[in-house]
Amino acid sequence: WPSMADDVDAIMRLKREKNAIILAHNYQSPEIFHCVADVVGDSLALARRAIDVEADIIVLAGVHFMAETAKLLNPQKTVLIPDMGAGCSLADSITPADIRLLRQRYPGLPVITYVNTSAAVKAESDICCTSGNARRIVESMGLPRVIMLPDEYLAQNIAKETDVEIITWAGHCEVHEQFTPGDIAELRASHPGIVVLAHPECPPEVVDAADFSGSTAMLSDYVEDNKPPRVVLLTECSMSDNVAVHHPEVDFIRPCNLCPHMKRITLGNIRHALETGQHEVVIDPAVADRARLAVERMLEI
Ligand code: 13P
Ligand code: SF4
Repeated sequence: WPSMADDVDAIMRLKREKNAIILAHNYQSPEIFHCVADVVGDSLALARRAIDVEADIIVLAGVHFMAETAKLLNPQKTVLIPDMGAGCSLADSITPADIRLLRQRYPGLPVITYVNTSAAVKAESDICCTSGNARRIVESMGLPRVIMLPDEYLAQNIAKETDVEIITWAGHCEVHEQFTPGDIAELRASHPGIVVLAHPECPPEVVDAADFSGSTAMLSDYVEDNKPPRVVLLTECSMSDNVAVHHPEVDFIRPCNLCPHMKRITLGNIRHALETGQHEVVIDPAVADRARLAVERMLEI
């Protein structure tokens, strides 16, 4: 088997030879995040950065909806995802037909769709949002009531911050739904003074018991700006590993949950993707045009 160093060398060489760039989500393993990625960030940052990529090939080290978003925003480029099975429990929780039914049930209400969805679902939506801009998008509608899906907990967490009534859907992130307020109570009891940061895909009672909640980029920025002596990030495991590298002075307590989808991406399959051109993300043009509009409307706000 090739060593990690062999894979890193090969990936760096292949990126040059093929004029490729690697966009990696904050949940990628440290060897991907720190050794081969050209751009790292949360879903919003990766979407924004995808627009002006000049390289011929984008390798998306993340999950499938992120690769689709990159393809929507820069359709001339070849977008590769190293493992087609890198899905998301939120994206799997809703179909285009579900949205059409919701529109019949709540005529006239705008549909705000979390980016953690398929392009086909985005195509049925008015606008997208991410965890980093959800509140702004909800309030930008200027209406007393909106539909926001499929993440029930994200919607409930945003509803607490605004006067807008939010109709939602029963989708959950299989990683964040596992955290409980009891976890936080135990952490506070065994690590006095610990600062608890939670992703807004966590249940509302977890976010309520935390000290701060935000997108993966916002959690990382919180550590950068506040340098808490001791911190826990209630989110995917690699986040702490990736952020801790830059903050040796901060004591990271690391109970976390692994995202099995994010962890399907490895140095080995990134190298394979660059060697073989697999797996290319292709979106039906009729779907892509409508889905792109929903993402672009988000980026304009
Ligand atoms: P961010 O947009 O905060 O990076 O979140 C993406 C995600 O999949 C969280 O589980
Ligand atoms: Fe989807 Fe949750 Fe994994 Fe993020 S952490 S990709 S929301 S399953």
